[in-house]
Amino acid sequence: MCGIIGAIGCAHAAEILLAGLKRLEYRGYDSAGIATADASGFAVRRAVGKLSNLASTLESEPLSGETGIGHTRWATHGGVKVENAHPIIADARVAVVHNGIIENHRQLRRELTAKGAVFTSDTDSEVLAHLFAEAIDAGGGLAEATASVLAQIEGAYAFAVMAQDFPHELAIARQASPLAIGLADGAMFVGSDALALGDVSERIIFLKDGDYGVLTQDAAALYDAEGRKANREIVAISASPGLVSKEGYHHFMEKEIHEQPDVALHSLGAFQDAEGRLHLPWDVDFAAMKGVAYLGAGTSYLAGLVGRYWMESLADLPVAVEIASEFRYRQPAMSQINLALGISQSGESLDTLMALKYAGEKGADTGALVNVASSTMAREAKHVLLTRAGVEVGVASTKSYMAQLVVLLILAVVAGHQRGVINDKLRREMEVMLASLPRLLGASMACIDAIKPIATYLARVNSCLYLGRGVLYPVALEGALKLKELSYIHAEGYAGGEMKHGPIALIEEGLPVVALLSDDNHFPKMLSNIVEAKARGAEIILIATESAITKAENEAETITKMKVSVPDCNPLLAPMVLSLPIQQLAYQTATQKGTDVDQPRNLAKSVTVE
Ligand code: M6R
Repeated sequence: MCGIIGAIGCAHAAEILLAGLKRLEYRGYDSAGIATADASGFAVRRAVGKLSNLASTLESEPLSGETGIGHTRWATHGGVKVENAHPIIADARVAVVHNGIIENHRQLRRELTAKGAVFTSDTDSEVLAHLFAEAIDAGGGLAEATASVLAQIEGAYAFAVMAQDFPHELAIARQASPLAIGLADGAMFVGSDALALGDVSERIIFLKDGDYGVLTQDAAALYDAEGRKANREIVAISASPGLVSKEGYHHFMEKEIHEQPDVALHSLGAFQDAEGRLHLPWDVDFAAMKGVAYLGAGTSYLAGLVGRYWMESLADLPVAVEIASEFRYRQPAMSQINLALGISQSGESLDTLMALKYAGEKGADTGALVNVASSTMAREAKHVLLTRAGVEVGVASTKSYMAQLVVLLILAVVAGHQRGVINDKLRREMEVMLASLPRLLGASMACIDAIKPIATYLARVNSCLYLGRGVLYPVALEGALKLKELSYIHAEGYAGGEMKHGPIALIEEGLPVVALLSDDNHFPKMLSNIVEAKARGAEIILIATESAITKAENEAETITKMKVSVPDCNPLLAPMVLSLPIQQLAYQTATQKGTDVDQPRNLAKSVTVE
């Protein structure tokens, strides 16, 4: 993921910025750069590859100045080349570092070019630099220029901007991508996270979505999305070199849940070209395949179950989803498995590693869908698909699961297109639909308040059922797993249609049943399952899209008092959008019970033994 750093009022800004970029390295990047301002104007140094390349460039061509911005870039729009590395400079007077995607950049680029702007990169970010130049020319201060630019852009962003006309100021803003300010005596800093600021400041302001402002060396003038002056809390952090911080959240898990819109954005961006078209960094011929196997453990296995629905419906390609520890010992039939994909956050789960190895030995092509690029699985598999979730500290998978889902859906779309199941038009529609996901996830985050009283109720129960149908069945399994591992409450997930075949016997007065519902082809049958459970005394907790709730209430008026609604979405995106409330429900229930949320008992983040 891209990383941003900025400084004002530092004697050797470039050195401080380079140190900040080093602390952002964990996010992953493929190019980096720094720009500073001194009396003679702007100067920029950029390099592709490791930060050591940028450091060498700075050694041979040092930068002076007390104000500067720096960036580590993970290429999304525009390939990995120096011209696309940030900071991006327009007209030698505005320099921009940006994290996120400006969704309407093509239209803005056309308009700006028509007005005479000369673009030097392929990035969406460059429109920001030209928009700032235009807004500054219109008069007013840097804050007004920022407000004017924000009114024109759509998408997700965190950015920092230097302008020649305002040599002692930095403009900043965030929407869906994180940004934090670091305060120090006589100096001010900005960074993507507290980790980046850890060695320069122990007083941090985490910007809220929609915030923007102007920094000087001793003040931060901040405004909210409506342009009102904003006073944001200053959080004291202790310098913890090398450690990822909680950034003001109570737990890493809480922070990681909140990062998911950004994670989805970066996971998508990594598989999109400049036109927003999906591509895979693989030379894999899905058209010739008879079948694939998804191998994983825990949440990664459940992500595979969701992925099967997509691969089979969009690509007509059979998928065997296997619990890794079972797969390698049961002599599975391999003649119809052309590709085995190990799904793993850590890339180190021994069960999955060994299952993948076994599949390779039996003649399958091997792929790794992992979050850690340097992991064993990534090194050993023939093909690698990286998720862009960033470091996940909480033992419970949240954002890495989200990133896995995004990539598995992309995989199904690309495979479906290769196999002729999806035509060009449909593929384009799916690309557009996928682009809406970060925004939908951001909107789903609003469910937190509705979940609080439900968590209070669940924290007192001993047992709970989760129900779903279709692609929401594995999401029900994931909901039950999250509740179990975090709050130690017994929970089971079932396919709604299975209830009558046995589990309905468990239902007695007051048993909580978490029902997942979206307005898809399963709606009528799932609603019947909910009504059946309610008729036997279950306390229904309905987690559903807005229109599914309305429909359900029209058809079965007193269905429940406990409900959580998320925005309507294409049913293909429902597993992601509905995963946010189930994670929140488990998180809040666990915090109410006072369990160790980030390190639940008996669990390790990465299971490297059998
Ligand atoms: O690193 P992996 O994705 O291979 O880990 C697999 C499981 O151990 C992991 O998903 C585990 O189930 C989590 N605790 C779930 O929250």
